[in-house]
Amino acid sequence: MNRKERIAVGIVGTGGMGTRHADNLHHLVGGAYVSSVFDVDQSHAAHASSLCDSAEIFTDPVALINSPKVDAVVIASPDDTHANLTLACIKAGKPVLCEKPLATTVDDARDVIAAETAFEKKMVSVGFMRRFDPQHTAVKAAVTSGELGLPLLWKGVHRNASVPFGTTGATILTNSAGHDFDSARFLLEAEVQEVYVRGLKTRPELHSDTTDLLVFELAMSDNRMAVGEVYVNATYGYEVSAEVICQKGTAVTLQPDRAMVRANAHRGFYVSSDWLAPFEEAYVIEDRAWIESLLKDTKFSGANAWDGYVTMVVTAACIQSLHTGKIVPVQLGEKAELYQ
Ligand SMILES: NC(=O)c1ccc[n+]([C@@H]2O[C@H](COP(=O)([O-])OP(=O)(O)OC[C@H]3O[C@@H](n4cnc5c(N)ncnc54)[C@H](O)[C@@H]3O)[C@@H](O)[C@H]2O)c1
Repeated sequence: MNRKERIAVGIVGTGGMGTRHADNLHHLVGGAYVSSVFDVDQSHAAHASSLCDSAEIFTDPVALINSPKVDAVVIASPDDTHANLTLACIKAGKPVLCEKPLATTVDDARDVIAAETAFEKKMVSVGFMRRFDPQHTAVKAAVTSGELGLPLLWKGVHRNASVPFGTTGATILTNSAGHDFDSARFLLEAEVQEVYVRGLKTRPELHSDTTDLLVFELAMSDNRMAVGEVYVNATYGYEVSAEVICQKGTAVTLQPDRAMVRANAHRGFYVSSDWLAPFEEAYVIEDRAWIESLLKDTKFSGANAWDGYVTMVVTAACIQSLHTGKIVPVQLGEKAELYQ
């Protein structure tokens, strides 16, 4: 891509996440505008277009990706469409911010790595936005300052109010827990070597295949560990936290901007059921960092295709562990020079 003053972005998938990226990129990110949108549901595309000064509505995602009016692409369609659309972006030579997960199978993630490696330039960024969340980056800064001694253990909590009936443990690990695996890798600066997962169905009325409360344990490189809870029918709201326990202290994410409320004989904080709310700022910072990296032709500071691939390999190992009840090793294979 030639150096530009403004990046024309095309958005594929304009549901909740895609519309948020469109709105952010068009109104809150200097140096970017949304030129084009596509969604299989054209009413969703029309809504996003109306928020972005009548961005062109496409009827085919690959036509959008190949359009000369599109410099870079955001993919925010359902998980199982990500890998193929990302491959189409690499083929067209268009940088892409692909929402997580990069793929839903290890083979598909590997295909993206192979295509990008053959292209010999990093084109793919992955939407692990916790890497831009001010609470998470404050924890990272405290840990990397060295004042707390060596990091030892990551502890995570990830709760959703509810998920659709029939959501399986494998889907939760692929769609939700990937954020936690990436958070552990990011905050501990270590690689996952082995995984162990247990899960249970929290209510008799749920589908027989549902394991909606999962606990995972990761053995990490450099003698570090991670344990996390992912509970997706927590009812009361959406909440995420991460704590890093170090030799001489700990650092935990906090939400300092919340008001403490006293009412009905209770004192506490409201919890939103909307996953957008806690990470509203992170999505904007992520979009700004992505556009800046394109304008300046510099490295994107967020997750790349290799991080997306690693998360998929860890996810696949976790699914195997959930189903077998065994500890499963994580084998990443050789890291191409592009990602060193
Ligand atoms: N980074 C995050 O925190 C975060 C948060 C939420 C969602 N996501 C990811 O973003 C993606 C979208 O999630 P969402 O919550 O916006 O879902 P959503 O259901 O609100 O939106 C998905 C949109 O994709 C459209 N769509 C369906 N099939 C399509 C296709 N083949 N091509 C193009 N569009 C298609 C749907 O019509 C819908 O408008 C998912 O991959 C999800 O995992 C990431």
